[in-house]
Amino acid sequence: MPELTSSQGWSYLQQSKLDRGSIFRSRPKISPAPLYKTYSGTSRYELPRPRNLQAPLFKALASRRSRRDYTGRIAIQELADLLWACQGITARVGKLGLRTAPSAGALYPLETYLLVLEAEGLPKGAYHFNCEEFSLELLQEGDFGKDMAGACINQQFLGQAGIDVCWSAVFRRSMSKYGHRGMRYILMDAGHACQNLLLAAEALRLAACPVGAFFDDEVNALFNLDGEEESAVYCASIGSRAD
Ligand SMILES: Cc1cc2nc3c(=O)[nH]c(=O)nc-3n(C[C@H](O)[C@H](O)[C@H](O)COP(=O)(O)O)c2cc1C
Repeated sequence: MPELTSSQGWSYLQQSKLDRGSIFRSRPKISPAPLYKTYSGTSRYELPRPRNLQAPLFKALASRRSRRDYTGRIAIQELADLLWACQGITARVGKLGLRTAPSAGALYPLETYLLVLEAEGLPKGAYHFNCEEFSLELLQEGDFGKDMAGACINQQFLGQAGIDVCWSAVFRRSMSKYGHRGMRYILMDAGHACQNLLLAAEALRLAACPVGAFFDDEVNALFNLDGEEESAVYCASIGSRAD
C-alpha cells in the first residue's frame, strides 16, 4: 500500500499515535487560548430558552437522513433548540460549563457560527453563537446563501436552507494540552457537535445535511476567521422539510 503510507494523512496518524512510551514524552510547546470567544460591540440577539422537549432518541436515530431539499425558513425557537443541542451548556463545574456534546479534556475547541438565510425574527447575516450567554452576535448583515453554496464547492442546497452552520476550531485550546494528537480530538469534537445537531433537527422534523466538502478559506472569509489560529472544520445546512 505505498500510496496510502506516503500520504500526509497517514503520516499524521503515525506521528500522533499514543503508546506506552510516547505518552510520557514531551509534547510540542503550544501556548493556550481562552476558552470562550465573545464579539463585543456587535448587535446581540438573545435566544429563547431551549424547550424541554421529550422527543424519542431512537426514533430520531432510525429516521435521520442527510436531507438536501428545503423550503427555507426556520423558527427562532427551532434555532435555539438546535444550538442548544449541539453546544448548549448543561452543567457547571466552577467556571467551566459542560456541554451537550463531549469534548476531549473539557477544552471545547469549537466555536459555532451560522449564516441566517431565512429565519423568523432575525436579520439575514453571519452570526457567532455565544454559548455562555445563549445569544447570537451579529458579525455582518447580508444575504450570504450564494457565497456559502459557492464556498461549499457549489453545493446549491446550502443556499436554499434556512440556516447554514459552521464549526470552527481554535486549535490552541486542545493542542496546547495534547500536542499533535489534539488535532484528532478537535475533529472528533466536531463530529459530536454535528451529530447532536442532526439528531435534534430530525427530532424537530427539520431537514439537515452535514457538509465536509468546502473551500476552507472561502468559508473562513464568511466569518472573518484567519484560517491559522482558527479555521472552519465542519458545516451543516438546516431548513424546513419539503416533504
Ligand atoms: C464528514 C462528512 C462530510 C459530508 N459532507 C457532505 C457534503 O459535503 N455534501 C453532502 O451533500 N453530503 C455530505 N455528507 C453526507 C453524506 O453524503 C451522507 O451522510 C451519506 O451519503 C449517508 O447518507 P445519510 O446521512 O442520509 O445516512 C457528509 C457526511 C459526513 C459524515
